[in-house]
Amino acid sequence: MDAARRVADLRREIEQHNHAYYVLDAPTIPDVEYDKLFRELQALELAHPQLIGADSPTQRVGGKPLPEFAPVRHVVPMLSIRTETDTEPTGARAFDARVRRELGLTDADPVIDYAAELKFDGLAINLRYEKGILVQAATRGDGETGEDVTQNIRTVRRIPLRLLGNPPEVLEVRGEVFMSRPDFERYNEKQRTLGRTTLVNPRNGAAGSIRQLDPAMAAERPLSFYAYGLGETRDWSVPETHSGVLDALAGFGLPVCEHRAVVQGADGLIAFHAGIREARDGLPFDIDGVVYKVNSLALQQRLGFVTREPRWAVAHKYPAEEALTTVEAIEVQVGRTGAITPVARLAPVFVGGVTVTNATLHNEAEARRKDVRVGDTVIVRRAGDVIPEVVSVVIDRRPTKDLFGGESLHAAFELPKACPVCGSAVERPEDEAIARCTGGLFCPAQRKQALLHFAGRRALDVEGLGDKLVEQLVDNAIVKTPADLYKLGLLAMVNLERMAEKSAANILVAIEKSKATTLARFIFALGIRNVGEATAKDLARHFGNLEALMNADIGRLQQVPDVGPVVAASIARFFAEPHNIEVIEQLRAAGVNWPEGEPLATVSSPMAGKTFVLTGTLPTLTRDEAKDMIEALGGKVAGSVSKKTDYVVAGAEAGSKLDKAQALGVSILDETQFRELIKG
Ligand code: IVH
Repeated sequence: MDAARRVADLRREIEQHNHAYYVLDAPTIPDVEYDKLFRELQALELAHPQLIGADSPTQRVGGKPLPEFAPVRHVVPMLSIRTETDTEPTGARAFDARVRRELGLTDADPVIDYAAELKFDGLAINLRYEKGILVQAATRGDGETGEDVTQNIRTVRRIPLRLLGNPPEVLEVRGEVFMSRPDFERYNEKQRTLGRTTLVNPRNGAAGSIRQLDPAMAAERPLSFYAYGLGETRDWSVPETHSGVLDALAGFGLPVCEHRAVVQGADGLIAFHAGIREARDGLPFDIDGVVYKVNSLALQQRLGFVTREPRWAVAHKYPAEEALTTVEAIEVQVGRTGAITPVARLAPVFVGGVTVTNATLHNEAEARRKDVRVGDTVIVRRAGDVIPEVVSVVIDRRPTKDLFGGESLHAAFELPKACPVCGSAVERPEDEAIARCTGGLFCPAQRKQALLHFAGRRALDVEGLGDKLVEQLVDNAIVKTPADLYKLGLLAMVNLERMAEKSAANILVAIEKSKATTLARFIFALGIRNVGEATAKDLARHFGNLEALMNADIGRLQQVPDVGPVVAASIARFFAEPHNIEVIEQLRAAGVNWPEGEPLATVSSPMAGKTFVLTGTLPTLTRDEAKDMIEALGGKVAGSVSKKTDYVVAGAEAGSKLDKAQALGVSILDETQFRELIKG
C-alpha cells in the first residue's frame, strides 16, 4: 500500500477512535493500540511531510469542544506531553540523554534536577483564579480552545473556590480531574443496585461528569483533583523551579499530590519509576505512568517546544493494564446468597503483570449493555487489585458470519433459567439488578460460599479453612452445614486429597478454637442476607442474646438503629426457616458459645454511640484493631464521612475522607489523640 493511502486510512481510523473516546466517552480500543496507530501516522508524516494536513489528528491535542459548552480560548496553550513507550529504565535514560544533548551538555557537566510526579488518568482542566477567586474552569479541548465547564468544576469539592494566603492578581492552575477507584466502585455499586447504567472506568467517569450538561448530575459523581502546572499568571514572581511552583500552589490551598520528588539525573528518574511501580496498586486512583519535568524553569525555557510537546517533559509509562483478547465462553457463578454473576472466560492474556483468564460482567443488565458474546474480541482491564473486567467489545472484530454464511455466530447473553450448579430456578425480583438461584443451602455453590463466610476472619474465624478444603468437604458430602464442621474427625480429613495429617490436625484445633466467639460474630457468620458486620453488631448490642433476636418480629427489629424494612424482613425470613433453626441448635449443641446477655455498649463510655471514620494508614494500629477498640466501647465505624460523623481517625495517605472531614468541621484525630480518647 502506498504511503498516501495508508496515511488516509490511519487518519480515518484515529478520528473514529477519537470520537468514541472524547465525545462518546466509550473507547473502542486499548490506549496502547491507539498509541501504535498514532505513532505509525506520525512516522509516515515525518517521512512524507507533504502528506501532513492541517486536519491530521497529529496536528491537534485532543477532542473537539462540545457545542453545548461555551468555548474558552486559552491565553497560554494547553500542551501535551510526549510519551515514552519504552517502559524499561532505558526509556528514562533516553529522555535524560535527549535533554542533555539539546542543552549542549557533555558528560563532564553536572546531572540535571528533575521534578518527578504521577501521570494522573482523568481530564486536564485549567482553573482561572482572579484575586484568589475561581472565576472560570475550562477543559483542554484542542489545546487552543477548550470548553467552559465552570459550573461542573464547582461541584468538585477538592477544588477551592477561593485561594488561601496572598494569591496573585491572576493565577491559572492546570491539573487533572479524576475519579478515585473507591469512589468509582461505590458509584457503580449504587448504580448497579438501582439497575442503572454504570461507568466504564474511572477516567470515563471523570470525563463524563465534567462534560455532563446538568451540573446537578455532575455533582452526584465524586471527583478529585490534583494540580500539576501553571497557565497564565499576572503579578506573581513565579518560583524558579517546577517543584517550587507546586509548593506554592499547595500553599494557596490547592491539592498537590504528595507522590512527587526532585531527583538527580537518569538514575533518579529510574528509581522514581520503580518506586511508583511498587506503590501503584496501593494508590486509591489509577495512574497512566509517571511524568518527568526538568525542574529549572529557566532550563525549560531554553529547551522550548516541538510542535505541541515541550522538550523538557516526558511521560514514562508502565506495562499496559488493558489488553485485547477473545471470549471463549460466558459462564455464570453462584455466590453465597445465590447471586448469579456472569463471567467471561478469556483466552489467557497478560495484563498489568498477571495472566488473566476470566473477567466479571457483573450482572445480566451489564452483560447485555456491553453485549459481550462468545468469539468476541474484547478489551479487558485490570486496575490495582480489583477483579479484571471487560471494558467493551471491539465490534468491528465480531465474527459476523458463520461457516455457512449465517448471520451472527453467537447470540446475545441470556441468563440461565435454572442454576447451573443445582438446577433450582433462577429468579430476579423486578426492582433488583441481581438474579439469584432459589436453591438456598440445597445448592452446593451457595453451601460452599456459606461455609467460607461462616469460617471467615471476621465471622467464626476458623484459620486454614480455605477454598480448596471447603470444595472437597462439600463435594464429598462430608460437610453440608456449618454445624457439620464440628463433627469432623481426623480420619475424614486425612482421607481428603493432598491433606497431610499435620495440617488436618491444625484445622481441627482451629475449628475447636472457633467455638468460643461473640454474639455479634455468630450473627454475622449466619450469613443472613443484608446483615453485614455492622448490622450484626447492632443486633447483638440491641438484643443482648440470641433468643431475643430470634423471637423479634419485624416491628421490634426495626427499632434497631439502621435496620429498615428490607433488613428486618431478611432477618425475619431467615429465622422463620426451620432448617436454619436446626443448624443453629446443632451449632450450640456442638459447643459454639459466647458471653450471653451482656450488651456490648457501656453507656458510661465516651465512645458509646459515637460514629468514627478511619482513613489512611495509622502508625501502629491496623484498621481492624482500631475498629475493634472503638466497637468494644460501644462506638461505631462508618465507611464514609457525613454530618453525623463524630470523629475521623486519620493516618498517612489519608485521602478524600480527610478533606471531607475538614470541609464539614468534623474532629480529626491522629493515632495518639485517638488512644488518649479511648483511655480517657
Ligand atoms: S503537564 C507541558 N503533568 O497528561 C505539559 N500533565 O499529555 C503539560 N497529565 O493533558 C501537562 N498528569 O491531562 C502534566 N503530572 C502531570 C500530568 C499531566 C496527567 C495529563 C494532562 C495532559 C496530558 C498530557
